[in-house]
Amino acid sequence: MALFGSAILDMILFCIFMNSLLPAFSEEYLDGTKSLKRHSGNGLAFANFAVHKFRHLNITPLVTASVKNIKDCGRLCVDHSSCFSVNFAAFFHEEGLLLCELLPSDKYNNSDKFLDSVVFHHLSIKTPCSSDPCMNSGTCVAKYEDDEYHCACAEGFLGKYCEEKVRFDCQDLKKQGNFFEDGMYWLDPDRGSHSNAFLAYCDMTSYSGGWTMCYTTDEFTKPKTEVTYNPELPYGTDGYRTNCNQIKFSEIIFIDHQTGNKSYFTNAGVTKIKADGNYGNRADTYGLWHGFGSMNDDYEYQLLICDNEFYSGFLVSGYRKIVVSERGCYKECSDWCGDFTSPYFRTAANGSDGNGVAFNTNGHRSLANRLISVGLR
Ligand SMILES: *[C@@H]1O[C@H](CO)[C@@H](O)[C@H](O)[C@H]1NC(C)=O
Ligand SMILES: *[C@@H]1O[C@H](CO)[C@@H](O)[C@H](O)[C@H]1NC(C)=O
Ligand SMILES: *[C@@H]1O[C@H](CO)[C@@H](O)[C@H](O)[C@H]1NC(C)=O
Repeated sequence: MALFGSAILDMILFCIFMNSLLPAFSEEYLDGTKSLKRHSGNGLAFANFAVHKFRHLNITPLVTASVKNIKDCGRLCVDHSSCFSVNFAAFFHEEGLLLCELLPSDKYNNSDKFLDSVVFHHLSIKTPCSSDPCMNSGTCVAKYEDDEYHCACAEGFLGKYCEEKVRFDCQDLKKQGNFFEDGMYWLDPDRGSHSNAFLAYCDMTSYSGGWTMCYTTDEFTKPKTEVTYNPELPYGTDGYRTNCNQIKFSEIIFIDHQTGNKSYFTNAGVTKIKADGNYGNRADTYGLWHGFGSMNDDYEYQLLICDNEFYSGFLVSGYRKIVVSERGCYKECSDWCGDFTSPYFRTAANGSDGNGVAFNTNGHRSLANRLISVGLR
């Protein structure tokens, strides 16, 4: 630790000053457990400065002073609660004094204004920000008195180091290339401000991948309102949830964790839909779906997106038998067309006709609980 006014600091600042006309001048720090401590009760105050020769931070100073030497300039900054760096003149002016600008911010917050100068040197305060920890054009915000920092990320990025690119959904991620593995990713279907971005599990392998996995459950689920990912309930365990309300999709996958069987359904229509705004619609809103995987392909399928007291969640079921004489019937969230024959893919409903979970079996009946996951793309 170097006290302001101690012999070490005097010497180094003196050194800096004396050498200031030499051409080469690298960063130099004073040791210390913290980089900045302003005056407290006991009067202890110091800062570890780094010198940037013939550079200046071109922002409006808090105060401009004339001082006898650099040490006095640094001391004024430590004493001023809003000062985070200084510009000081490389040359004395007529009165034999040095111009000293106390600045309200630092070179990290204003990197575009940190410029070459023929008349100034710049003193910054030591911080972990000097190792450029923030990626993807993120701004490092130094917390000098804690020797800490955080990264203010540029649009499109998130994470401690802004290392995470934000995507609309898992299919968007898939389109960036095949190197993304199954796992948790930050999604922000509406982009813009990332305050509403969230973590979701992306299945990047099943049927070419790109599935945003919405929930895992062995019984009930409420995708409209159960939208918060809890790291203690990871994907594949009962209780995994994320926010699928804004995910645009034309395909839906059901994964049966007992057998590992998977079925997915593709909308014959071209327009993608999203759950938000579509809860409770009759199935003819979305037309017919083709099934692939472990299901009976004698059927065409239909989709419901529900949030009522009887049934909540996605539900895919058969539309009709291939026998043309057996007319199909589009279901509603609480009217399943008396369909006691076709395969259903659903979680639990409230009522003796819909207990338990159906995966590729008729679901207009009471079934056992069964762990399944549902995803969209
Ligand atoms: C840097 O900018 C952030 C906001 O962009 C602000 O909260 C912080 O106080 C600034 N820090 C300094 C030292 O100017
Ligand atoms: C799982 O797949 C196997 C093989 O395709 C099939 O025999 C079995 O009936 C399927 N089970 C379910 C529940 O879909
Ligand atoms: C059905 O009832 C159970 C138990 O009361 C409840 O947890 C679940 O959310 C209900 N399901 C629906 C779709 O409302």
